[in-house]
Amino acid sequence: MKYLDLRENKNYIKIKEASDAIKKGGLVLFPTETVYGIGASGLDVRAIEKIFKAKTRAMDNPLILHISNISQVYDIAKDITDIELKLMEKFWPGPFTIILKRKDCVPNIITAGLDTVAVRMPSNKIAHELIKQVGIPIAAPSANISGRPSGTNIQDIFEELKDKVDYVIDGGDCEFGIESTVVKVENDVPIILRPGKITVEDILKVIGKVELDEHIFKVVEKDEKILSPGIKYKHYAPNTKCILVYSKDNNKMVNKINTLIKYNNSLVVCCNKNKNKYNSKNIIAIGKDKKEICKNIFKTLRKIDTYDVDLAIIEGVDKSGIGLAIMNRLIRACAYNYIEI
Ligand code: TXA
Ligand code: MG
Repeated sequence: MKYLDLRENKNYIKIKEASDAIKKGGLVLFPTETVYGIGASGLDVRAIEKIFKAKTRAMDNPLILHISNISQVYDIAKDITDIELKLMEKFWPGPFTIILKRKDCVPNIITAGLDTVAVRMPSNKIAHELIKQVGIPIAAPSANISGRPSGTNIQDIFEELKDKVDYVIDGGDCEFGIESTVVKVENDVPIILRPGKITVEDILKVIGKVELDEHIFKVVEKDEKILSPGIKYKHYAPNTKCILVYSKDNNKMVNKINTLIKYNNSLVVCCNKNKNKYNSKNIIAIGKDKKEICKNIFKTLRKIDTYDVDLAIIEGVDKSGIGLAIMNRLIRACAYNYIEI
């Protein structure tokens, strides 16, 4: 495994070596503006198999193809509608993934046999340069063992992935910290399958319509038909049992959590302004606002397991703007163990 430190050094010429590793069928850990990706050539079935193996990812969970130039979309997708094009033009490059009708050249292993393919154009400079140098789309899921919190810095994922990749590009902390918004357009209506930095409000402004997939906050029943296969798997979960508590009324939320603290050997994850309100010695302050919470969320979920407690009690946030993405990740990290009062 080779390590390339681009945290301070902006010598992007070195990225060529990593792109050569991908062209030769290797795997590369690389930063994006959302989370780190574990990437392989989007046309190399053997290399893509290695991604599934490295992550122990279920083969029926499809991957995103990452592009650096809008023209590449036409190599992999077809029958693109005006609304799809408008979304891509507005939100690319950036934390936005769109599900399009696939072309036959896209390997089945990427799409898990579906007739659609997920496409994203990242804005992160290192990701952009890497994809450009490779010259074909890069297949990349989030860099983490399946079910674990996504990686937003190299330190968090180095141990679990270092022996499984050929190249690691360290770009420091990811700017946003939560995975991209995933959207599928059906009958001209954009449906959000996974909320992210591009919000309901952002899409409404551009298209005038948007819907949320019903599974964003719901457990998938056995044998239920779903739009996004990733939804049905356990996600982001620390090993410690977690509970999410939320009330619009901050005092009510604090009181409820203080009651839970009384009866449990616990830890509290809260926003900065509440950190002195809890009767506990185990407190993790996760950030001052939703933007900071996004940036710290996966790091914090990993940190929970370093405490010797039986329960982690996590404060919720309101679901407006990027609050929807935060609550979606937290609810799943808590395995739907959620109290709203
Ligand atoms: O921000 C991101 O999107 C990061 C960075 C690395 O780009 N990637 C990422 O990939 O989060 P992954 O594989 O962890 O999540 C991709 C999600 C999964 O929930 C998957 O089921 C869904 O996108 N997906 C992929 N292809 C799909 C398709 N054809 N139809 C529906 N959902 C799809
Ligand atoms: Mg993932």
